[in-house]
Amino acid sequence: MAASTRRVLVGQEIGKAFGSHRVLDAVDLTLHQRDVVCVIGPSGSGKTTLLRCLALLTAPDQGRVLMHDQVVAGGKADRSVARAARAVRSDIGMVFQHFNLWPHMSVLANVIEAPIRVRGLMRDEAVARAEVLLAKVGLSDKRDAYPGRLSGGQQQRVAIARALAMRPAVLLFDEPTSALDPELRREVLAVMRDLASEGMTMMVVTHEMGFAEKVGSRVVFMDGGRIIEEGEPKAFFAAPCTDRARRFLAQFED
Ligand SMILES: Nc1ncnc2c1ncn2[C@@H]1O[C@H](COP(=O)(O)OP(=O)(O)OP(=O)(O)O)[C@@H](O)[C@H]1O
Ligand SMILES: [Mg+2]
Repeated sequence: MAASTRRVLVGQEIGKAFGSHRVLDAVDLTLHQRDVVCVIGPSGSGKTTLLRCLALLTAPDQGRVLMHDQVVAGGKADRSVARAARAVRSDIGMVFQHFNLWPHMSVLANVIEAPIRVRGLMRDEAVARAEVLLAKVGLSDKRDAYPGRLSGGQQQRVAIARALAMRPAVLLFDEPTSALDPELRREVLAVMRDLASEGMTMMVVTHEMGFAEKVGSRVVFMDGGRIIEEGEPKAFFAAPCTDRARRFLAQFED
């Protein structure tokens, strides 16, 4: 289904430097409702930094971030922006490469923590919500296990359930399968594919070209802190317009 035109999360002319190193150079990226934007590009091209700016984890030093058309980072950066950022931060879900589960807490406790603390859910309600989500990611039987006893793929699926428990408006994934063996990748990608088909708005930084082509609604190719090319995935993978994208994709050919 084509993405609707409602804008969820927008980065406008995002710039970021670390010292004298310009890592993002006026990057524009819009996530519309139901979009699955897959961001690809070489190491160091700025993918994680862009994602972190949109997640309000890193402050851009140029440009601005809008959530539901409200400025939440950059711009005048006054108190109203800070207040708007606080109000929407928990609506932006994150899934990291290394899962980042709390190791001293059971799977269930990992999933119910933020809904109780941040959303103010009653414990019973949070548990009921968590049970539905653990079933969805195929891990009902692991609810009382600790993360250290789970495979990487299982941990990542818990991390996805944990993010979903907040009922986010958008989910941002940073190389969610890069730390996993191929067979474990598949189970995580299957969960992500299901989310996409249910209409979740997603940005996925990934090296999974098959996923980007089949599941993505749009692919964005970055290099040197800029978006070099973006487009409809099938057209992009069949015939990238730029030499840089062609060279990048050539590495993934068997
Ligand atoms: N906190 C930081 N301090 C200094 N430099 C940073 C910081 N974070 C990122 N960088 C630099 O910014 C550039 C872009 O990094 P970023 O992590 O966004 O790239 P990436 O595209 O996600 O790469 P990868 O595919 O390796 O994850 C890199 O040169 C990196 O070394
Ligand atoms: Mg990265």
